[in-house]
Amino acid sequence: MKLNWRAIPAKFRNLRVEFAVLIFLLLTGCASLKQCAYEGYNRDDWQQPQKVIESLQIRPGAVVADLGSGSGYFTFDLARAVGPTGKVYAVDIDRDMTDLVTKRAKERGASNIAVILAKPDDPLLPTRGVDLILTVDAYHHIENRVSYFANLQKYLRPDGRIAIVEFDRRASFAGLWGHYTPAEFIKREMEQAGYVLQREFDFLDRQSFLIFAPRARAQNLAPVAPADGPVQNEQTTK
Ligand SMILES: C[S@@+](CC[C@H](N)C(=O)[O-])C[C@H]1O[C@@H](n2cnc3c(N)ncnc32)[C@H](O)[C@@H]1O
Repeated sequence: MKLNWRAIPAKFRNLRVEFAVLIFLLLTGCASLKQCAYEGYNRDDWQQPQKVIESLQIRPGAVVADLGSGSGYFTFDLARAVGPTGKVYAVDIDRDMTDLVTKRAKERGASNIAVILAKPDDPLLPTRGVDLILTVDAYHHIENRVSYFANLQKYLRPDGRIAIVEFDRRASFAGLWGHYTPAEFIKREMEQAGYVLQREFDFLDRQSFLIFAPRARAQNLAPVAPADGPVQNEQTTK
C-alpha cells in the first residue's frame, strides 16, 4: 500500500522524518538513536566480538573495565568471559547509556557488572583495581589523550593491560565524520602516555586492535594500596 502524504494534514506531514526514525527504531529493536548508532546494523559480522574477546585471553575472575561502554555491546560478553567471580566495570560519561546498561544488566541478572558514570577526564575506577581496560570506538572521543591515558596507569593491577579497538581509515562510514584515529596516532600517543605496544591484531577489517602495557612495569613501581571502599559514582545493577 502506498502512503499518500498529500492526504495527511501539513502539520503531521512535517513529522515524516520523525515518523521514519520511529519506524526504523521499532524495526531494529533499538531503544534510542544513540544505541542504534553504537550497535549499528549487522555489527556482529564485522566486529567479531567473540574473536576480540578470545584474543584478550581474559581469565575467569578477572576485573575488566569497558571504557566508553555505550549501550553495552561488549560489556555483556566481557561479563561472560570473567564469570561470576570476576567483575566488569561499564564506564561511560553519558547517563542515558549508563542507565541503559544498568537496566539491561538487571534484566539479564548480570550481577558481575558495575556501572560507573565517569568524568570526561577520569573513569573513576578503583585504584590498582583492574586487570584490563578495553575501549572500543571511544578513543577518538577522549580529550587530552596523553594525560588521560597516563592517568589510567594508576587503575591497572601489576599485570594490567589496555586494549584499544578503534575505527581507522578503512572505516569509510565512521571516517566520513572523523570518528576514527589512525593506528599510528594511537601508538605514538600511548608511547607518550608511558605504554609499550604488547600485541597488534589485524583480523578486524574496519578497526585497529592494539594491546598496551605500562612501560614502567619493568621498572620499580611505587606500591599503591588497593581501594577497599566503594568506587566513586558506581551505580549498582543488582
Ligand atoms: C561510539 S560509542 C562506543 C560504545 C561501545 N564501546 C561500543 O563499542 O558499542 C563511544 C562511547 O564513549 C563514550 N565516551 C566518550 N567520551 C568518554 C570519556 N571521556 N570517558 C568515558 N566514556 C566516554 C560515549 O558517551 C559513548 O557512549
